[in-house]
Amino acid sequence: MKIGIFPDDDSIGRAAADLVQELFTHHPQANLGLATGSSPLATYRHLIDRVSSGTLSFARGQAYTLDEYVGLEPDHPQRYRHVIYRDFLSRVDFPAQSVHTPNGNANDLGAAARNYDQSIAQAGGIDLQILGIGSDGHIGFNEPGESFSSRTHVGVLTDQTRQDNARFFGADIDAVPAYCITQGLGTIMEARRLVLVAQGRSKARAIRELVEGAVSARWPATIMQMHPDAWVLIDEEAASELELIDYYREVWEKSRA
Ligand code: GLP
Repeated sequence: MKIGIFPDDDSIGRAAADLVQELFTHHPQANLGLATGSSPLATYRHLIDRVSSGTLSFARGQAYTLDEYVGLEPDHPQRYRHVIYRDFLSRVDFPAQSVHTPNGNANDLGAAARNYDQSIAQAGGIDLQILGIGSDGHIGFNEPGESFSSRTHVGVLTDQTRQDNARFFGADIDAVPAYCITQGLGTIMEARRLVLVAQGRSKARAIRELVEGAVSARWPATIMQMHPDAWVLIDEEAASELELIDYYREVWEKSRA
């Protein structure tokens, strides 16, 4: 894995945006995987700025989101489809028909999950997947115990995740849905490049496990250790539990030289 440790959120966002821009410069029709949540907001700010200034365009690309709550009212502001439009998609130039999200309100959720997986495969796969990480080690909404080869599926959220996300639901854990639909770990691992961004002390344990822990279903993100092109871009606080932090800094600096 490539591990970049940065002084602040803005420099994480710039580094992640550089990877996205490099992709679209060489491959304007690329498929970009998007994550919802607070972690990628700085990345999205940098991408929005670059699209606004004309140095980057997604006009020929496709966007695929990772996950969605199940059962929220169609107009609920916390539906991830609405959140990603608010935070990013409404301010860049992906054509509306090129944006794809899992349907958490389908009558047949199993079929919706299978169809979503197939649509990614038919499009040729995700070229670059942006990821956040949950404090319990989830990526997408793949909670502890999830199969490493899972496809897009309906899942059950942990109490930890519902507690973490209650801040978006008026601090009421009971208002946070118990179910989700998410790209599986097998689906995510097929993306050609993974770029995970994380900030803050609350992510430090999960980052330690991701980078230095044993590959284990207890910490689903550890499967990224098996990916040939995975980037982990974090701040000092998220990196604070890494045993070999000085070594990772040295490798990063030498690889940029
Ligand atoms: C959420 C989402 C993930 C996100 C993660 C971290 O529950 N399902 O896609 O990456 O947990 O969220 P945040 O970036 O807000 O800390």
